Amino acid sequence: MAKVKTAFFCQNCGNRYSKWMGQCNSCKQWNTLVEEIVQNPNKKIIGLSNSDSKSVSLKIEDIDLNNNSRIDLKDNELNRVLGGGVVPGSILLIGGEPGIGKSTLLLQVSLRSHLKVLYVTGEESHQQIRIRADRIKSDYGNCLILNETNVEVILQQISSLQPALIIIDSVQTLQTDSIDSAPGSVSQIKESSSVFLKFSKQTNIPVILVGHITKDGGIAGPKVLEHMVDVVLQFEGDRNHIYRILRSKKNRFGSTSEIGIYEMLNSGLKQVENPSNLLISNKDQQLSGNAISATIEGIRPIMIEIQALVSSAVYGTPQRSTTGYSSKRLNMILAVMEKRAGFKLGSKDVFLNITGGIKIEDPAIDLSVVAAISSSNINTPIPRGICFAAEIGLSGELRNISKIDQRISEAEKLGFRYLVTSSETKISLKPKKLKVLQFSNIGSLLKELFKVQD
Ligand code: TYD
Ligand code: MG
Repeated sequence: MAKVKTAFFCQNCGNRYSKWMGQCNSCKQWNTLVEEIVQNPNKKIIGLSNSDSKSVSLKIEDIDLNNNSRIDLKDNELNRVLGGGVVPGSILLIGGEPGIGKSTLLLQVSLRSHLKVLYVTGEESHQQIRIRADRIKSDYGNCLILNETNVEVILQQISSLQPALIIIDSVQTLQTDSIDSAPGSVSQIKESSSVFLKFSKQTNIPVILVGHITKDGGIAGPKVLEHMVDVVLQFEGDRNHIYRILRSKKNRFGSTSEIGIYEMLNSGLKQVENPSNLLISNKDQQLSGNAISATIEGIRPIMIEIQALVSSAVYGTPQRSTTGYSSKRLNMILAVMEKRAGFKLGSKDVFLNITGGIKIEDPAIDLSVVAAISSSNINTPIPRGICFAAEIGLSGELRNISKIDQRISEAEKLGFRYLVTSSETKISLKPKKLKVLQFSNIGSLLKELFKVQD
């Protein structure tokens, strides 16, 4: 019998060694090396043979673009994030925390797209899928559910069913016979996904893989997985809130600046076409500590409400707590406010919330954080109709931000009367109803802010 080949793999970074070591030389993690069988010649290897593919070199102008016409998934948000639908022959990876709604999103797409979808689940039973499908208010489309984890069996099913789209939930449950190590291990994930990668390229059938996420927010398994696939999407949000954001971290066929926004309802995920209005609560009543920021997420303008609560610390050490905003950034803003604008916040508790539990990456949100904190500190509401957009620098200056014209037109559309931004920002748009107020630093802004007449 032929000899079984083994090697040691780091479970963190996927690096391969011929001998066991205590520490991985590549990622410096301890005790992460595990022995795995690389190839077992005694087992039949069902893969896809290289001879199937016809490799030809083509001139650029001779490449047929029609091959790449995108498939409409009948979900505007997902289509938009992908750059107008899924490209045939592409392989996608969607990651997200447990319970965020990955399976719900993909089942919904399977049912509503009316494509012949093969939904392979290694995590849930047929009954569980049926219960979920019944929750999502939809017809049953043309979707087939396969409860299987073995790659070879899945490939056999695919060849007899000939689906138009394949969904694998999740890549961590896959297991191929060509390798003996356990499902979820680095080499299994790598090997199984590369089978599907090869498969999708050869057959032009798109494959969507679901990936679990580690404690640090990365997709579990080897880093190479993200390099292998064409598109990496991240589904995020706060499980206790209803909003979910779908971001693109990598897209070989489109931009990564688009985002999709959903609401998790009792009847599945609802697309949010116009998010601006939803994220502002108490439109009529002005409360202290609330400020509205004109942000841009991806390429979509979103007006979002920031809530701050500043109160005297009851216990010795003041608390700082944030939702949706980086706590390091909050500490920096508080230090800048203390040093550059004379606020005494050292003995105060500061709590900061972004409505909807959405994480905003746009740095222009900084100014509304300053405004909300100062408003709560002096217990005076910010006059109605004002919104903010500027990044704050370490010397308290308001810094230039991008896409100001888009922010201004969105704010004007929603009836705001003032937009506060940096004096460095060049504005080409001339709004009719909205006035742009430009300041160079937070000191001068805060002096003027509460004087603006309601
Ligand atoms: P799920 O799709 O199973 O998440 P993942 O696959 O990312 O782990 O998410 C399910 C969660 O969403 C669960 O907590 C129940 C909730 N949910 C709804 O609120 N409404 C619905 O219509 C469905 C199907 C699920
Ligand atoms: Mg799931």
